[in-house]
Amino acid sequence: MTEYDLIVIGAGPGGYVAAIRAAQLGLNVACIEREPALGGTCLRVGCIPSKALLERSELYHEASDGLKKHGVKVGKLELDLAAMLKRKDATVSALTKGVAGLFKKNNVTRYEGTATFTGKGALKVEGKDSAELTAKHIIIATGSKPATIPGVELDGKRVGSSTEALSYEEVPKHLVVIGAGVIGLELGSVWLRLGSKVTVLEYMDHILPGLDSDLSKEAHKLFKKQGFDFHLGSKVTGAKSLKSKAVVSVDGMDDIECDQVLVATGRWANTDSLGLDAIGLETNKRGQIEVNEHFETAVEGVYAIGDVIPGLMLAHKAEDEGVACVEHIVTGVGHVNYDAVPGIVYTHPEIASVGKTEQELQDAGVEYNVGKFNFMANGRARALGDTAGWVKILADKQIDRVLGAHIIGPRAGDLIAECAVAIEFGASAEDIARSCHAHPTLAECVKEAALGVAGRTIHM
Ligand code: NAI
Repeated sequence: MTEYDLIVIGAGPGGYVAAIRAAQLGLNVACIEREPALGGTCLRVGCIPSKALLERSELYHEASDGLKKHGVKVGKLELDLAAMLKRKDATVSALTKGVAGLFKKNNVTRYEGTATFTGKGALKVEGKDSAELTAKHIIIATGSKPATIPGVELDGKRVGSSTEALSYEEVPKHLVVIGAGVIGLELGSVWLRLGSKVTVLEYMDHILPGLDSDLSKEAHKLFKKQGFDFHLGSKVTGAKSLKSKAVVSVDGMDDIECDQVLVATGRWANTDSLGLDAIGLETNKRGQIEVNEHFETAVEGVYAIGDVIPGLMLAHKAEDEGVACVEHIVTGVGHVNYDAVPGIVYTHPEIASVGKTEQELQDAGVEYNVGKFNFMANGRARALGDTAGWVKILADKQIDRVLGAHIIGPRAGDLIAECAVAIEFGASAEDIARSCHAHPTLAECVKEAALGVAGRTIHM
């Protein structure tokens, strides 16, 4: 029986960051992870490989279609998919090894195996590093897995999840994506750019549920132009692999034949193999673990962070929860401001949001002003030849405090950081508008949108 101050189960962005922060704060820490590579879904089969493919497929798309307008002529263009996938794998491998290095540097003890609770404060590890461990504090950070829907079986052949869609060995002639959420549109974009016909079947009457509806409408318009074949209000009732094709059944439509099906209908918390019964910890109806504001579960000394608890499923949210959780354990203080957690969709153009949507403010009866600025009126966007989209800032009508920011356009994912800082610091739109923004940059659009809150944009 080996004893630690803290054991973290799961080495995704939530778990490994929590382990490192706890070690920095002087705790004796172990982290149990069943996969040989550290980094969780995000590093292995999520954020990082998908971004590697998004960046590279965009290069291919630019070279085949977008460079002409800049006066750059390209000769015969060829796609080397195998090389693109290899490069993606190398990016993943470098980063997962990097986490192993960080564990060493911070003296976090790593166990490779599956963790199961055997009693209060006690865990069994089964796998390469089998062991029995105890700790005063245990953080569950086991993440999530792709959800399935009735009638659709993820067989990993022609009907698969995001994991398979990161590694198709050839470009599918026809890819059917079930679900127009973040995963469906990001990975759909990759294969659309590489030459697939991409059909997206979405149950709701709009894409990207949960986003500010202006963003969702603008994205729908732009993605349709790119060639996405959207079928909104379509309920998928089945999908199966046949020998040389797959077939998808949709309520009220003819069956659709295709080469690959990407099921992107959400994710489920990973709690089933934890042996939570042994400590009397129950999950909610959605299989998630409920926690209080300090990430403590109903069982003393057991905490949960990231995708296993209710809320957004985002790597950076999990990281911040991990830090807040261990800081609270050690110092008594630790907190996450969910209003300042940005969300980004890495399509082209990118889509980024932080704070409240207009719909949320209206539902809460909050009066607000809106400032909006189009990238079309920005010099840098013009120079880039990337002018679709806008920045929208929502600020309290009485005190001008920034309540939300929504961006669709070039580098939206980087631009949103300034808005997140503004919200975290309780800034007003006037504070952003009076801060000097370098010229010529895309960030000037944020300043102009902030000026727009008071009806005084300069360049539009
Ligand atoms: P999602 O919840 O974003 O979207 C799933 C979509 O599937 C919804 O629009 C839903 O209406 C639709 N759907 C459900 N059942 C259906 C049916 N029977 N027929 C047709 N449509 C159906 O889930 P997604 O895209 O799978 O992503 C999972 C999680 O991972 C999300 O929480 C997301 O935020 C996170 N994620 C975040 C990324 C980022 O931050 N860039 C990247 C990838 C994932």
